[in-house]
Amino acid sequence: MAKVIEEATEIIDLLYKHGWDERNGGNFSYILTDEEVQTIIKEEKEIREFKYDFDMSSLIGKYFLITGTQKYFKNCLKDPETNLGLLKVKDKDTLSLLWGYKDGGRPTSEAPTHLKCHIERLKKDKEHRLVIHCHPTNIICMSHILELDENKWTEILWKMQTESLVVFPEGIGVLPWIICGGDEIGEATALKMKEYRSVVWAQHGLFSTGKTLDEVFGLIETIEKAAEIYMKICDKKVVQSITNDNLKELAKAFNINYKKGIID
Ligand code: 13P
Ligand code: ZN
Repeated sequence: MAKVIEEATEIIDLLYKHGWDERNGGNFSYILTDEEVQTIIKEEKEIREFKYDFDMSSLIGKYFLITGTQKYFKNCLKDPETNLGLLKVKDKDTLSLLWGYKDGGRPTSEAPTHLKCHIERLKKDKEHRLVIHCHPTNIICMSHILELDENKWTEILWKMQTESLVVFPEGIGVLPWIICGGDEIGEATALKMKEYRSVVWAQHGLFSTGKTLDEVFGLIETIEKAAEIYMKICDKKVVQSITNDNLKELAKAFNINYKKGIID
């Protein structure tokens, strides 16, 4: 198996084992380099194409490894060629399948959201490569009990553990419940990605982005861990906590440029 497929499916498997991607829940899209593509296919031959109704001109020529719709994260490691596809953006509205979806499958229903997020994140960071959508339990729990104010969410998550501010200093975006798989949620998520690397979908899950598999997995882990701590203590009597001054001291010590206007 190509090393990049092995590494990607190992991360997908870990997400499943954490309980964040039940059934077909969650999806994954990863920009591959030309060298990585050559470790998967010898020559480029289009198997099928997929049309979309938005403009992805800025992605033309890029290769993506994308999970298939209705595919289970549980099965990706043992059968990548059925559960994932290697696609090239061949035109402003067309993806070309070069490998994978062996059983006739197609890209995740969230592919437009993923691609729109890639477009936005690449504007912010040339090294950006990865979008992961998952269903972390405690993030979903929080979205049932906390008002959907992203500064409030950011403050709470930062204050649950010391590492949060270090790992996501830009904070976290939060969207209300919107029907998944559609244009509205895709546009809204991509808009949030102008400012954040992670966006909560209320009563649904999380979209996280970044440069590497480890970075994005670590981001999801850290956010979900903070949410888990919140869910464990939110109905308890808290006698001491991380203060605004503690966070400012932390930011100074680690030279962190955090989102202003929340703890200042
Ligand atoms: P897909 O099976 O189409 O990837 O959808 C799963 C999901 O999590 C929808 O938000
Ligand atoms: Zn989902």
